[in-house]
Amino acid sequence: SHREADASRSPYSPQAAHLMLEAMRRAYLDRARHLGDADFVEIPAHLTSKEYAAKLAREIDARRATPSEDLGKDIPLAEKEKPGISEKSGFVKKATFTDQTTHFSIVDASGMAVANTYTLEQSFGSRVVVRGAGFLLNNEMGDFNWVAGLTNTTGRIGTPANLIEPRKRMLSSQCPTIVCRDGNTILITGSPGGRSIISTVLQTIVNHVDYQMSPRENLAQARMHHQWLPDALQYEGAGQEEFAATVEALTRMGHRIVPAPERGQGSAHSIWVDPTSGRRTGVADFRRGGLAVGK
Ligand code: DON
Repeated sequence: SHREADASRSPYSPQAAHLMLEAMRRAYLDRARHLGDADFVEIPAHLTSKEYAAKLAREIDARRATPSEDLGKDIPLAEKEKPGISEKSGFVKKATFTDQTTHFSIVDASGMAVANTYTLEQSFGSRVVVRGAGFLLNNEMGDFNWVAGLTNTTGRIGTPANLIEPRKRMLSSQCPTIVCRDGNTILITGSPGGRSIISTVLQTIVNHVDYQMSPRENLAQARMHHQWLPDALQYEGAGQEEFAATVEALTRMGHRIVPAPERGQGSAHSIWVDPTSGRRTGVADFRRGGLAVGK
């Protein structure tokens, strides 16, 4: 179980966790502001610039959580309920939403790598099978922003960039990823988990590149997720004795902590490649089970 994660060995001190969470909060706000099908909306170039990252970093208070509502003042918040709109938390919790997205990673003898995340969204997707082809079509329409102007504190987003339009593609959180160093593949990763996919992949990369964790240790870390709204930290360590001190310290900094889905956050079946020896290590994420196979 991910309860293997050992808080005392984690490099995620409350301070380090806080900085990562504040970065997530700001990145998800920009996602709500700007991201949508690039054939329909202009994605501002500054989002990936070092200068903009430095500006955001300067605005982070190293000791206090910034309330999400103070940050996104340009996006008006609606009342929680509007007639005819059913309310659902922005966090993925129900089993029907969590089983139909899968990630796998592959590398072949010559070093060709594939990171593949695919999704039906809900069980049996749209329940339509392509005649003669034998596969189901997904029902990703829910990945569009549902109601124009309806952004609220539960995490419903109603900004224009990802509103539904004919021939437009909905915004996905999937991020199958191949990490390279000096042109060599060092990590192949990705995950299911709706909006939390981005946070899972971020931590898998940081655990490897910045904290040099072993593959097993990497995946065993208690994962965190903050998506701007709801203004809450989804944390696998919540409610667990060994993470109590971290939870307390983060709460004192102003974070509101909620538990992760029962089986944990995501499932990042990944492959690590040592660029010097060429040795590959595949690990199936224990949260949902799986198998690493080499030939
Ligand atoms: O593309 C997306 O972002 C979502 N449709 C993925 C859904 C998902 O990961 C559900 N899984 N746990």
